[in-house]
Amino acid sequence: NNFSGEEKPLPIPPLLEDENPDPNKAEFTLVAQTGSMEFLKGKPTDTFGYNGNYLGPVIRVKKGDDVSIKVKNELDEATTLHWHGLEVDGEDDGGPNSGIQPGTTWNPQFTIDQNAATLWYHPHLLHKTGEHVYKGLAGLFIIDDQDSEQLDLPNEYGVNDIPLIVQDKQLDENGQFAYNLGMQDVMMGLQGDTIMVNGAINPYVEVPKGKVRFRLLNGSNARIYQFALSNSQDFYQIGTDGGLLEEPVKLSNLILSSAERAELIVDFSSYKEGETVELTDQGLPFLKFVVTGEEKGPKELPAHLVDIPQVDESMATNTRKFVMSGMGQNVTINGKQMDMDRIDEKLKLHDTEIWEITNDGMGMMGNNMGMAHPFHGHGTQFLILDRDGNPPPPNERGWKDTILVSPGEKVRAIATFDHKGLFMYHCHILEHEDAGMMGQFTVEE
Ligand code: C2O
Ligand code: CU
Repeated sequence: NNFSGEEKPLPIPPLLEDENPDPNKAEFTLVAQTGSMEFLKGKPTDTFGYNGNYLGPVIRVKKGDDVSIKVKNELDEATTLHWHGLEVDGEDDGGPNSGIQPGTTWNPQFTIDQNAATLWYHPHLLHKTGEHVYKGLAGLFIIDDQDSEQLDLPNEYGVNDIPLIVQDKQLDENGQFAYNLGMQDVMMGLQGDTIMVNGAINPYVEVPKGKVRFRLLNGSNARIYQFALSNSQDFYQIGTDGGLLEEPVKLSNLILSSAERAELIVDFSSYKEGETVELTDQGLPFLKFVVTGEEKGPKELPAHLVDIPQVDESMATNTRKFVMSGMGQNVTINGKQMDMDRIDEKLKLHDTEIWEITNDGMGMMGNNMGMAHPFHGHGTQFLILDRDGNPPPPNERGWKDTILVSPGEKVRAIATFDHKGLFMYHCHILEHEDAGMMGQFTVEE
């Protein structure tokens, strides 16, 4: 129902203030709290948010920064906070084992040890992740580095470098996020009937006449989007989950599953002042771009962005197999469901491994009507070696932490594990994760 209601300007999540004046150190405070938002006129919705009513501010740091984040829980239930895509030790990762009790503060500290990327943060409490994210707990985590700062890319935050957190929601007759899962939601993951961007339904955003960068996060519990522009204009993807691509990749549409990110460049330079175009999901418009008369940004995109190492398969010391199976409550990885007292996989620190991720395509009743599952591993970034033996498409030839695997498909990805501790791998359809489609691995010396 994205056509109904009046249009609102797109909210731009604020950049979170760094409380440490030292340029190489960063200190932040995030408060998980309850709130209220009027998504529908006259029907305020009870929400969760960080430092506000809904979603959270953008944490922005540089490679090499020493970061300290105080996460205060002012909800009246436990939560956790996971830095999705960030390469930190297990104790700072914020997985299900790092519960933050109501009224307490968790203070992870780490050094930013990876290249420029658009990551995100969200809760990860066992059986509660879906509900917490759905009610509004999520935000972006942006890393800059020398390469990203030197490249001639659109870089004015909120002007021609615009974050887009896309989430589908369902509001009940009282305007509430009823997180009561029906049969269908349990099976397929929760699918809403309304798409929100940065917490707004039907928003519009003014963009300059030029190239504009969008940092796109699929922050939905389950929905897989197929993004395109309403006039079928091509756009460029310049970044994946974990960083910039080697070169811009021209696309006419983009499939993005839950938790995946993409940095896109849309060129509005041929538009007239006041001309509009919409971002659509499978043809349904949900965000309108209104082009202003102002000209801004680079004339040309850099032909080369960053170097991505050719990781040689022979560097891998091990091939580890993961089989994702089922739907609904019957979801498993390697035939098992999550058990916090069980370590499923043990890795050696600094080892490079190939992870072979198969979706066996099994559905509810052991039939072959299964669904696509986005596989996410913590603590590292992967490079996809192949999909069913074929090289990945050009827009997946970059760092990935979440990999969509179709029914019957086998994906091989390679990664080096340079951080120690306890980590998770799981399906990022949050209702599947909460149902137990998750396992634990350790990385030790
Ligand atoms: Cu985005 Cu284990 O999570
Ligand atoms: Cu799944």
